[in-house]
Amino acid sequence: MYNKTEILNNIKNKIADIIILDEADSTNNYIKKRINLLNSNSIVIAKKQTSGRGRRGRSFLSPVGGLYLSILSNHNGDLNESSYPTVVAAVAVCRAIEECYNIYCDIKWVNDIYINGKKLCGILCESTSIKDSIIIGIGINISTPPEGFPDEISDIATALSDYANVSDLSKFIAKLYDNIIDLAPTFNIESVIDEYRNRSCVINKNICVYQNDKIIDAKALEITNSASLIVEYPDHSKENLFYGDISIRLDI
Ligand code: BTN
Repeated sequence: MYNKTEILNNIKNKIADIIILDEADSTNNYIKKRINLLNSNSIVIAKKQTSGRGRRGRSFLSPVGGLYLSILSNHNGDLNESSYPTVVAAVAVCRAIEECYNIYCDIKWVNDIYINGKKLCGILCESTSIKDSIIIGIGINISTPPEGFPDEISDIATALSDYANVSDLSKFIAKLYDNIIDLAPTFNIESVIDEYRNRSCVINKNICVYQNDKIIDAKALEITNSASLIVEYPDHSKENLFYGDISIRLDI
């Protein structure tokens, strides 16, 4: 499906190392645990994860058939609690899929990539104990697991193999890495926010806002220049939602 030499042959940017694992608890965890040993611009790829993690403490189902990778990157800004790496990574993933497979992807604020209304990919960016380093974790459903997606997500999940020939992923992984590294030094969202907004599949949609223990109905109105989401509640009050502790679901 992919191999180290082919990935390296196709990468244009500087790269420190590629580690390919049959299994990891989580590729983000793998990097965190070895943060003092790994150099920036390294990628860790796992064929499956036993404890894949998503945003807000959720688990991320990671069976064989998916692509689970984390990139350890440098940056030169103050990104603590910022959504910017996630926004940049989301655009980088969409561009890589379009460039390699000619498939258009939407973005569901803030960190999910969708094709035709179904989730293909989730992104989890985490800061590290080393100043100016960040872990960008990306999980993509490449093919449907042999036993199918579990019932709770079977209606909302999709796989790249439904749309493209995914027999060789080396060029795709290389493109994804290059797209992220091209944007990584500053994670400046000015250059990508228009594309992020144009790819959004939430604007003017009814959504549920998950905040702490509450689930609140709302309508998504606008994504701001700093990638926050303005929503309107049924009583017509508005709120500007930031990345932090909030997630949303599309009302289907
Ligand atoms: C989400 O859907 O909330 C984000 C999911 C992010 C999953 C990726 S897979 C590679 C990396 N390792 C993890 O444990 N999580 C990220």
